[in-house]
Amino acid sequence: MNDKDQSRDLLAAAAEFGIRYREQSVDRAVVPSAEALANVERLIEPMPRTRTADSEVLALLDEVGSPATVTMTGPRFFGFVIGGSLPVTVASNWLTTAWDQNSGMHEVTAATATLERVAMNWMIDMFGLPADSAASFVTGATVANFTALAAARNRVYANVGWDVEANGLIGAPPLTILVGEETHPTVFKSLGMLGFGRDTAIRIPVDGQGRMDAAQLPMVAGPTIVCTQAGNLNTGAFDPVGDICDAVKPQGAWVHVDGAFGLWAAASPALQHLCSGLQAADSWATDAHKWLNVPYDSGVAFVRDAAALKSAMSITAEYLLMASEFRNPSDFTPELSRRARGVDVWAALKSLGREGVAEMIDRCCQNARRFADRLQAAGCDVLNDVVLNQVLVSFGDDATNRKIVEAIQKDGTCWCGSTVWQGRSAMRISVCNWSTTAADVDESLEVILAMATKYQ
Ligand SMILES: Cc1ncc(COP(=O)(O)O)c(C=O)c1O
Repeated sequence: MNDKDQSRDLLAAAAEFGIRYREQSVDRAVVPSAEALANVERLIEPMPRTRTADSEVLALLDEVGSPATVTMTGPRFFGFVIGGSLPVTVASNWLTTAWDQNSGMHEVTAATATLERVAMNWMIDMFGLPADSAASFVTGATVANFTALAAARNRVYANVGWDVEANGLIGAPPLTILVGEETHPTVFKSLGMLGFGRDTAIRIPVDGQGRMDAAQLPMVAGPTIVCTQAGNLNTGAFDPVGDICDAVKPQGAWVHVDGAFGLWAAASPALQHLCSGLQAADSWATDAHKWLNVPYDSGVAFVRDAAALKSAMSITAEYLLMASEFRNPSDFTPELSRRARGVDVWAALKSLGREGVAEMIDRCCQNARRFADRLQAAGCDVLNDVVLNQVLVSFGDDATNRKIVEAIQKDGTCWCGSTVWQGRSAMRISVCNWSTTAADVDESLEVILAMATKYQ
């Protein structure tokens, strides 16, 4: 067999393994067996001195790796905030990998740069963001928060005559950062990475759903960044971003929105009221690997002030081809060399269309509602207003909740995680997967309620 044939067979085998895995993911247990996990030990060995046949490498991956994975891509994984992956996006991801483009510069990778530009414009339009916003295709909402806040840092300092890009933070004028008490930890991490420290922000009180209380914002003056949230990871609640913008933007503050999953509500006519006023902000972070259901890793930052984002992210060097009449993706991202991850976003949006995106988002929310209604009907305590795709349920005290969550996870029909919401322990259900049906909800509820009865 020549090299070409071997390469073809190898890639065909990988496709076959992937197809089989995904076909099985509908019915297989969500958690791997103890035996499959123990088998992973087989991979721990000294680095081989000699070569291993490619077909053997792949076969080992499938034999040991596939059974040891958690079925996150299946329809009954409700932990964290985890999307699945639409078939078209897995396909586009495979093809993009085959292209192996380093998509930083338009002049070198025009096809992928164009696909990302198109996807960016579609999202800007779909979310109702300012038409000339810039976007950055990054690895996830953490880096999207970081990227958008880097633009914020540049602009608010530039407004007071400080060039933070050139001079850094030593000797910089004081800056105020305001966040809600329920801000996601990745925002604090981003603030730390930007040199502001993780603990310097002023925390604004929130209500019982985790929404920032705009009335408690202090008077702002000088360089100020306000970090708001669209979609609390426990309750799904939205900060009143419009009111916050009204309160602080006249004083020149930059308002950022962490909309890791909540921003997608803006794509649904039935849910977009939750995002009302959010378009007045200055930057927005979201994930595509959550609710758009594209493979990991895929997030997007949008920034109204394109020049601020570009000033924080772009570089030049003699050997690069940055001069272009078109958008260079890496002018807007922390990385120079980068995968064309926006192609999967394009594929999802092209395949679903506006109606398909809205329908997918709505369906997840309806299934979350179905969970909540049936849990409530069975006497369980639903702790949040189920306005989106997140459900918080308590079966009793902390020990009881833990026992029940553990038993549900062990059973393997579905997977839900634990949390503590404003001092009360709870189980979280997050419905984010394109393929979850009402039947999946009912099958999961059967196990959840059986475990609740057994351990309450
Ligand atoms: C509100 C919010 N922000 C940020 C993140 C971090 O997203 P990622 O893990 O994609 O970086 C999450 C993750 O669940 C989230 O819910």
